[in-house]
Parts: sequence; structure tokens; C-alpha cells
Amino acid sequence: MIEREQLPKLILNSTMHVFKTVAALRCYLNSFRTHSPGKTVGFVPTMGSLHPGHLSLMTRARVETAQVVVSIFVNPLQFGPREDFQQYPRSLEQDLEKCQQAGVDVVFLPSIEELFAKGSSLNHFPLDTSDLKFQTTVVSPDFLTSQLCGQSRPGHFQGVTTIVAKLLNIVQPHRAYFGQKDAQQLTIIQRMVADLNWPVEIVPCPIYREPSGLAYSSRNQYFTPEQKEKASVLYRALSQGQAVFSQGQQTDSAIKTAVLKALETVPEVQLEYLELVDPVNLQPLSEVEETGLLALAVHLGQTRLIDNIILRNRQPIIAIDGPAGAGKSTVTRKIAEQLGLLYLDTGAMYRAVTWLVLQAGIDLEDEPAIAELVDQCQIELIPQEGQLQVKINSHEVTEAIRSPEVTAHVSAISAQNAVRHSLVQQQRAYGRRGGLVAEGRDIGTNVFADAELKIFLTASVEARCQRRQLEMQQKGQEKVSLEQLQQEIALRDQKDSSRAIAPLQKAVDAIEINTDNLTIAEVTDCIIQYYHKVCP
Ligand code: PAJ
Repeated sequence: MIEREQLPKLILNSTMHVFKTVAALRCYLNSFRTHSPGKTVGFVPTMGSLHPGHLSLMTRARVETAQVVVSIFVNPLQFGPREDFQQYPRSLEQDLEKCQQAGVDVVFLPSIEELFAKGSSLNHFPLDTSDLKFQTTVVSPDFLTSQLCGQSRPGHFQGVTTIVAKLLNIVQPHRAYFGQKDAQQLTIIQRMVADLNWPVEIVPCPIYREPSGLAYSSRNQYFTPEQKEKASVLYRALSQGQAVFSQGQQTDSAIKTAVLKALETVPEVQLEYLELVDPVNLQPLSEVEETGLLALAVHLGQTRLIDNIILRNRQPIIAIDGPAGAGKSTVTRKIAEQLGLLYLDTGAMYRAVTWLVLQAGIDLEDEPAIAELVDQCQIELIPQEGQLQVKINSHEVTEAIRSPEVTAHVSAISAQNAVRHSLVQQQRAYGRRGGLVAEGRDIGTNVFADAELKIFLTASVEARCQRRQLEMQQKGQEKVSLEQLQQEIALRDQKDSSRAIAPLQKAVDAIEINTDNLTIAEVTDCIIQYYHKVCP
């Protein structure tokens, strides 16, 4: 391990910044916020010893935010007295290289003294970690922390919430990325942020696995190659649980029996717990109604391992994103028709709230009043004979939302943060049972980041111009030159990709389809084929 003072030249000469103090990091981020108003900060907290699982979080943050901050801090508060705080793997030099390769902007590397002694009564150096009990701590409700890992790791989650609270307050990111690998940690942090009304979005990221199925973990380094091979039974066993669930056996006992049978094939793996719980409140489920978290912890040699899988009792979701003019809305409508899915017309939802705001006579600049109105509204999308009927607060507005007045104001209303936030919540509520297809700019990256199938539809500027010109011709509109259309489309692309709210983004796991030389029917068929592959 290298000393903090001897950070490798490679890193110091590069554009990635490495800060060891809260003061320096805050100063840098304040300056970023001042000079790049509206640009987002993404944050990935880690304990270092970085592996591809961590990197998947950083890659996602890189795609979704303008400034990516990673913290590396082995947090003594979350280790029990007999746990591996001293032995926990540390590899700073390689970690910094990996961060740089992942395109991280800032690495925050605080010392224990920096985080715990400054400005507190613990001002003697070096700090004895037993002094940390005098710190203010953040305590999550017992019903969340006493379950699953909480049973064998008393105090662990208190250590996690305390450090995460400190880090979130120091970095003040728009979005913070956490892995589903530590499912209980993720639930507890989501709950803390919601209960304490912190203005940060917690982004859950899927578990990244080795080809054997073993979830990447810093503690995998403790294993011999033979042990690693044995550890891969965890995912095989969880997948058996998933298989019986998919076949319609959704009770706790049927699912657990399948998992246990698979685990028994590797006797060296000793089970600590196997639980089926509600992922939101972590309480045991006797049967999966909507969603279940199937989680386990085992011991293999001296090492404790955790893993989990989410069981979803829902129809699949298809998310379609892409630039304007790539054919998204026509294709989405056709897919909904052919697969019998709901077309979640998010555009119609924004139009409906615009209608409501105009109807209520609220000044379009009065964001707090609009926020309140939208937060309390209820939108219904009702499929009827191939059409979608739209209702807001029980008013039938299918036709009214297409009026020139609504068209003129819908983008200004959609650009308001609070409107976006409320509607994304309503869209996600539709997604709970699945069975829908939606299109937009950030459906696969934000609204339905767990969609079963994500498509990114693109087309060259030239092809989109030609389509637009044809469309205008068919509508009998005045002819506009291809050159002028090209300029307009390029400008729109640039604007869409750099928006502070809901920028156009391709999800890391999206399938890109270039529609230049394809007909609508060909694109639709292609997506339907992918759908049948993903959801047989
Ligand atoms: P650490 O174990 O280093 O993990 C940092 C982040 O990476 C966590 O959000 C974790 O869930 C995620 N992660 C780890 N392995 C992963 C995998 N295979 N796939 C996807 N994500 C994975 O978790 C912690 O550190 C600490 O508790 C911390 C939150 C930093 C607080 O100290």
C-alpha cells in the first residue's frame, strides 16, 4: 500500500483530482457548481479495493452525471470488534488507476482523523477507533436493521448510515449510486434519505457478477481458486429459487426448498441465513405478491459472503429511448399493440398536467404552486379500442391535451424539476405490475432502470431530416430546406443531451438500433424478437 502523501505521478499529472480533506473537496465542488449551473454531481461511495462491481457503479454515474465523485474510505464504524477492519484489503494505487480509467473526475480519500476528529471533541492524534463511540450517530429503525445481516452484525448498519450521512452531506450529490449486492444497506439508505428529506436521488445498481455467477466482492480476494469455484453455488442456488418462482411456485417454502437443495451440493458452504423478505420493509414474506428479496449469507472458510436476487411478480417492461425523430413514438405504439402491452404515453402525462395548470389559471413561472398541484394530481391512462383515453383528476382530457395552447406550454412545464419528479413517481407506480412499454429520453436510465428490455433508437441526422420533411409534406405544411432541418435537429440533439433534467442518455445495458435503413415494421419486428429472447 502506498502512503497518501506519495500518490502516484500518473494520477497527479492527470485531470482526475484527488482530495484528502473535506475543505479541498468542498472548495472544488462549490466552484464546479458555480461555473456549471444545472450540471449534476454523481457520487459513488466505496471502501476501495475496487473491482468490476464498483466500476459498474462508476460507469453508470459517468453516463448519467456531469461530475463523478468516488470516495474511498474503509469505515471503522461498520466493522464489529471481531471483524476484519485491519485486514480489509487496501490497494490505493490500483484503485486510483481504475478510477481514472472509469473516467472519474474526483476521488475523495479522507483519513479517519479527517472525517472524525476535525471540529469535534475527538481532537487528539492519532485517533483511537474506540473514541468513535463519542460521535453523533445515525440510527435507522430497528425493524430494518435487526433483520438479515443485522442479526450477526450488531451495530453494522448504524456505522454505515453514519458514514453515508456524513459523505452525502460533504459531497451533496444529485445522485448517489449503491449496489443491489448489499440489498439491506441499499434499503436502509433509501429509507434514511426519504425519512430525513435529503435532496439526493439514491440510484440502485444491479449486481455485477463473474462469469461463474459469483458476485464481485472485495472479500473474494480471501478465497483460493477452489473456494471461489465453490462460492459460485450461491448464485446457482438463488437461480434455482428464481426458476421455481417463475414456474408459478411463489411461496416462501417452495422457493427456499429449491435454494437449500442446491446449496447442499457444496457442504463447505455453511448457511447463516436464507430469507425471503419484502425489499422495502425487509419483513418476511410467506408468498411473493409483487416483489420479493431472496437473500442469503454463508460462511466459506473464514470468509462471510452475501448474495441476493429480486423476484418480481410482474409483466416485463420495455424502455425505448433515443433522439427526436428516430421513430420512437410510432414504434412504441406498434409494439404495445402487437404485444398487448400498455403504451405508457409519458408525453400525454406531461400534456395532462399542462392542461391542469392552464385550467387552474396558475402563472407558469409560479413553480411552487405548480409543484403542489402536480403532486396532488392523479392521471389515468385507459386503453380503449386501440386508443388511449387520458384522464386527470377524473376529467376526460384525451382531446383537450392536443390543443395548441397545451402544445405551446408543455415543454416549459416539463422542464420544471418538481413536475418531473411527481410524474416519474406516477409512471413508476404504473410499472409496479409491469406489462408496459414507454418511450422518452431517460426511461431506461431513470424512470424504469430495471426494465427487462432497453432499446436505444437512433438514426442519422440526414435520415431524420428526410423523415421530418416527408411528414411536413404529408401534413401540407410549408416546405423547409433539408439544410435548415439539419441545423434544427442538430441543435435539438445537443439541447436534449445536455439538459440538466432528464437528459437524453443511452443506458449502459441498452440495445442500440440504428433505424436509418429500416422500415417501422422492421424496427418493430426487431424489438419484438429481442423481447421474446429476454422474456421467453
Ligand atoms: P463497498 O463494499 O466498497 O461497496 C461500495 C458500493 O459498491 C456499494 O454500494 C456496494 O453495494 C457496491 N457493490 C459491491 N459489489 C458489487 C457488485 N458485485 N455489483 C454491484 N455493486 C456492488 O458498501 C460499502 O462499500 C460501504 O458500506 C459504504 C457504502 C461505502 C459505506 O462505508
